[in-house]
Amino acid sequence: MKATITATSRYIPEKVMTNFDLEKIVDTSDEWIRTRTGITTRHLVAEGQATSSMGTFVATELLEKSGTKPEEVDAIIVGTVTPDMLFPSTAALIQNNIGASRAWGYDLSGACSGFLFALESGVRLIESGKYKKVIVIGGDTMSAILDYTDRNTCVLFGDGAGGVLLEPSADDSGILDSILRIDGSGGPHLHMPAGGSLHPASHDTVNKRMHFIRQDGKAVFKFAVKGMADVSAEIIEKNGFTGSDIKLYIPHQANKRIIDAAAKRCGFTSDQVLININEYGNTTAGTIPIGISEACDDGRLNTGDLVLLAAFGAGFTWGSILIRWGSVR
Ligand code: UT7
Repeated sequence: MKATITATSRYIPEKVMTNFDLEKIVDTSDEWIRTRTGITTRHLVAEGQATSSMGTFVATELLEKSGTKPEEVDAIIVGTVTPDMLFPSTAALIQNNIGASRAWGYDLSGACSGFLFALESGVRLIESGKYKKVIVIGGDTMSAILDYTDRNTCVLFGDGAGGVLLEPSADDSGILDSILRIDGSGGPHLHMPAGGSLHPASHDTVNKRMHFIRQDGKAVFKFAVKGMADVSAEIIEKNGFTGSDIKLYIPHQANKRIIDAAAKRCGFTSDQVLININEYGNTTAGTIPIGISEACDDGRLNTGDLVLLAAFGAGFTWGSILIRWGSVR
């Protein structure tokens, strides 16, 4: 039995921060950001909003679109590295907000691959036959962990979330295959040093700005290009397809140059590739479900289409998931 996506949703915060706004805060320029990354704007949550606020919007809309009652939800899985707090989980906060009285669930830390890892988990729950309705969300409030004095990182990220409802497939649509990887040797290249059990919050960790994201962009770039291109090409070949069989490639949006390199390796033309980094920046676990939801609403996906998802992120984590698109709300 396959699992299939039956509804999609996304939440993009209203507040927009442009490259010109950033020029006023750090030593950067609109021209540098656009040419090196492809980003023009990013959206940021309002005061008092957090990852669970975005996730609650997404989950509520998934229920509305699919005509699902809250008590019918079996599980909620949230891919995020910016949970509202270490515990309780963002999944539990969302469960309570939507009144999913029979659900269980958890948060999953896969950074930019968080949605792919969460989707894989949700798929396996459905395939077990025990669970019929699983909400899978990917989202991050990156503005909460960005150092707006560090031009190497603060220009790259934004806030946002998206999600899907998974149900058993009644036809040949569904999640066909996945290739997922982690390699902890890449950890030091992209991390947030403090706030966990190794360096709990203290005056010292705050003074040393250890509660913010730190990245060696060049090192990550090199691995990201190879990692995302490798798993994208591998899953296409493994399943007996070629690049031209893929209707839409929905890659993680970290840098337009990384996306272009992966797309080139798979032989995709530009109309096969979803790009929205210009508007949202890198929303970490949010990029792929936001892209899925946009493509769905824009009519870019029809029943029977092959959709390829691919991501690369902190950990390192990376992977690809191949989907035969079904009837989706
Ligand atoms: O999603 C999670 C995974 N993350 C990624 O995939 C990110 C991968 N890395 C990248 O996308 C790119 O490496 C960056 C966009 C982060 C940086 O681009 P780059 O072409 O690798 O630039 P660089 O780090 O080599 O920096 C080039 C120059 C440096 O100046 P010098 O040393 O040549 O004088 C930087 O100091 O650009 C400077 N620079 C900036 N200048 C203006 C770095 N950040 C900025 C900035 N504005 N924001």
